[in-house]
Amino acid sequence: MVESSGASLLVASNRGPVSYAVRDDGGLDARRGGGGLVSGLSAVKGDGGALWVCAALGDGDREAVRRGVGEPGVRMLGIEPDVFHDAYNGVANSVLWFVHHMLYDIPVSPVFDAGFRRRWAAYEAYNRAFADALADGAAPGAAVLVQDYHLCLVPGMLRERRPDLRIGHFTHTPWAPPEYFRLLPDDIAAALLRGLLGADRVGFHTRRWAEAFTACCRDVLGEEYARGERATRVDVHALGADAGFLRERSRRPDVAERMAALRTQVGEADREVVVRVDRTEPSKNIVRGLLAYRRLLERWPEWRGRVVKLAFAYPSRQDLAVYRDYTAEVRRLADEINESYGTDGWQPVVLHVEDDFARSLAAYRLADVALVNPLRDGMNLVAKEIPVVSDDGCALVLSREAGAYADLGEDALVVHPYDVEATAEALHAALSMPRDERARRTKRLAAAATALPPQEWFLAQLNALRG
Ligand code: G6P
Repeated sequence: MVESSGASLLVASNRGPVSYAVRDDGGLDARRGGGGLVSGLSAVKGDGGALWVCAALGDGDREAVRRGVGEPGVRMLGIEPDVFHDAYNGVANSVLWFVHHMLYDIPVSPVFDAGFRRRWAAYEAYNRAFADALADGAAPGAAVLVQDYHLCLVPGMLRERRPDLRIGHFTHTPWAPPEYFRLLPDDIAAALLRGLLGADRVGFHTRRWAEAFTACCRDVLGEEYARGERATRVDVHALGADAGFLRERSRRPDVAERMAALRTQVGEADREVVVRVDRTEPSKNIVRGLLAYRRLLERWPEWRGRVVKLAFAYPSRQDLAVYRDYTAEVRRLADEINESYGTDGWQPVVLHVEDDFARSLAAYRLADVALVNPLRDGMNLVAKEIPVVSDDGCALVLSREAGAYADLGEDALVVHPYDVEATAEALHAALSMPRDERARRTKRLAAAATALPPQEWFLAQLNALRG
């Protein structure tokens, strides 16, 4: 039944724009998140009523749903905790994340057993909850933008319920090539693709991921895809950095305070500063980044005492052992480098693990060299943010496997992320680069990084969908 009222624009994503925490006195604190999607959606506020459908992620969110507390324009789904856990951790962040970033240790994993089938059923139920909420909240002919690998089945499910809607889906991760995608059981590989093909338009950050997706459709679905009962257009929209927001935010006093604290940790004023900022998870390749830094100190001893690496590795998805173990390995290796090379007045690696956006911006401003070396990455906004915020110019060492490489490859020092020796060489070249060349490149990088800022990125998708 199509309702006569409802939103004309809907967004669906696992993580929403707001989260809640229960205070000691039992009250609820709301925290608005940042990020491209949040600032992108602000472009369409007042657009005949927009609705953002998201999941309740933790106890605070679930309590808010139970008490009926919420923000206008946001509908948080109180999905049953076990179902949420199996869908989010058991399928999305282990299996789908691992497939698209090609992270499996193939001789031992993946194993698709009865337990996995149970988790897959939860993924279906979780996607159904989103499709139901969207079907319920959408005005006739509304535009719906579904985000990411958590919600691959939603477009197909929603299409069945509401054929009148314009449906878009955007994938923020890479897309695996067919040989790797076909590690998934056949029925599940087909279900994921059919789910996405329920959309009118599907989007990716680069041509490379878009082409991998269509190759998977051809390979897995064969004739069925070629007949194309529903023609789904595949688009490329490369999300850019939000220059206005970043420049204003990075000039605030809390960032200046963090800069002073970081300068103290770096020590002598003329030391070079290498910066990396990541959520700590295996695709970010933090361990090989540390190995390359250790190799730099070994092969070019002149850098000892003359460089400090600021590594901010914010914990992510710690319910999963594989992410926790990776975080532990990052800590272990940072300690080992400090023990082998550190002296009384010099700590070669300064590792911070607690999330602090102001401190990340402070490091962006101070960086002489930025290291962004993911194994694979849908885009990687850190690579785009640093040149925008940099005070004096910063050389960017960038993995060719990051989506950002398509936009920034010309002015970055490009590395093969598995090649530790070549990464050490790139760090040496970046540290040795004359200041004026760093500054020139940073200017060009900043221009390329801001070509499609979040609001325009969002509107481009919306216009294509409504077109
Ligand atoms: C990636 C995904 C996003 C996700 C983010 C943080 O960028 O593409 O969908 O929100 O990681 O991960 P989390 O699991 O904490 O939401």
